[in-house]
Amino acid sequence: MAATLVPHGIRRLGVLGAGQMGTGIALVSAMRAKVPVLLYDKSPEQVRKGLGLVDKLLDKDVNKGRLTLDEAKDVRGRIEVVPEQHGFAGLRDVDMVVEAVSENLPLKQAIFAELAAELRPDAILATNTSSISLTKIAASVIPKGETASTELGKQSAARVVGLHFFNPVPVMKLVELISALQTSKDTLERARSFATACEKEVTVSKDVPGFVSNALLMPFLNEAIMHLEKGIATRDDIDTTLKLGMNHPMGPLQLADFIGLDTCLAIQKTLYDGTGDSKYRPAILLERMVDAGWLGRKSGKGFYDY
Ligand code: 3HC
Repeated sequence: MAATLVPHGIRRLGVLGAGQMGTGIALVSAMRAKVPVLLYDKSPEQVRKGLGLVDKLLDKDVNKGRLTLDEAKDVRGRIEVVPEQHGFAGLRDVDMVVEAVSENLPLKQAIFAELAAELRPDAILATNTSSISLTKIAASVIPKGETASTELGKQSAARVVGLHFFNPVPVMKLVELISALQTSKDTLERARSFATACEKEVTVSKDVPGFVSNALLMPFLNEAIMHLEKGIATRDDIDTTLKLGMNHPMGPLQLADFIGLDTCLAIQKTLYDGTGDSKYRPAILLERMVDAGWLGRKSGKGFYDY
């Protein structure tokens, strides 16, 4: 394949996970960075839903006159689905993969170990994790028989990076870039260049629990839930105070529902466990709502009914 002139050098991207985030990442990559995307999810039903969302968003852009029908077809044509039975081997030829599966360290470590074994040794392994340690994920890609200090071990871990997109990906203008202790400068710069090609602003955070974004956002949402739990104000008064008083697009309880209460709890626990600081204790009401299966918008019930 001919070398490309763009600094990120990504001629083909793999996206792992066809949920809201993975689908959004596939869409902005195909539409803004104009790279061919291979989308993989072990659930064909999830892929069907994800592609349905892509089609809906492209139709909207055509109806609003932001894309011609041909441009929309080109974007859609750049997104190809990896057949489920091919597994990660279907991603073998990509220059970078962005993983967007659920926030679960053992799951991510297993996925990264397998990706590292399947993909070319120079392919970038990026994760959309919202709070998990990049350094722990990078440590899982050391090939069998190598160690963290051998040349091959170091080279493999050096290609892991955090590319944290925000929901809804096509709308939110930010990508947070996170470097593991092992990440190389080249990996970091190529990942930054790719996010810029997706027309995102890039900020950089060290590998600390929650990075900058969620270390600041989640305690705010958790505190709003504690206010509701303590009966300090009603749901609507809490949300209206922040929406109208501070010009936030959504109130904190509405935003927690939008992100998913299971995701909020997982991130809050990462902050609590990762720092040992009691200020990050998850609200009991948040724990109970997740116990009840009330996960917010995606489950039809959270602080609001959908
Ligand atoms: N996917 C794609 N596009 C979407 C969308 C979705 N799920 N939901 C809304 N949009 C688009 C709409 O199509 C519309 O696009 P258009 O201007 O091209 O027509 C635009 O967003 C505005 O939508 P609406 O007019 O329907 O509604 P609002 O004006 O209320 O905006 C919102 C919706 C953009 C979601 C706005 O309420 C908002 O910005 N909310 C805050 C979102 C936020 O904070 N996200 C970050 C969450 S934290 C995170 O992701 C990090 C993770 O680690 C937890």
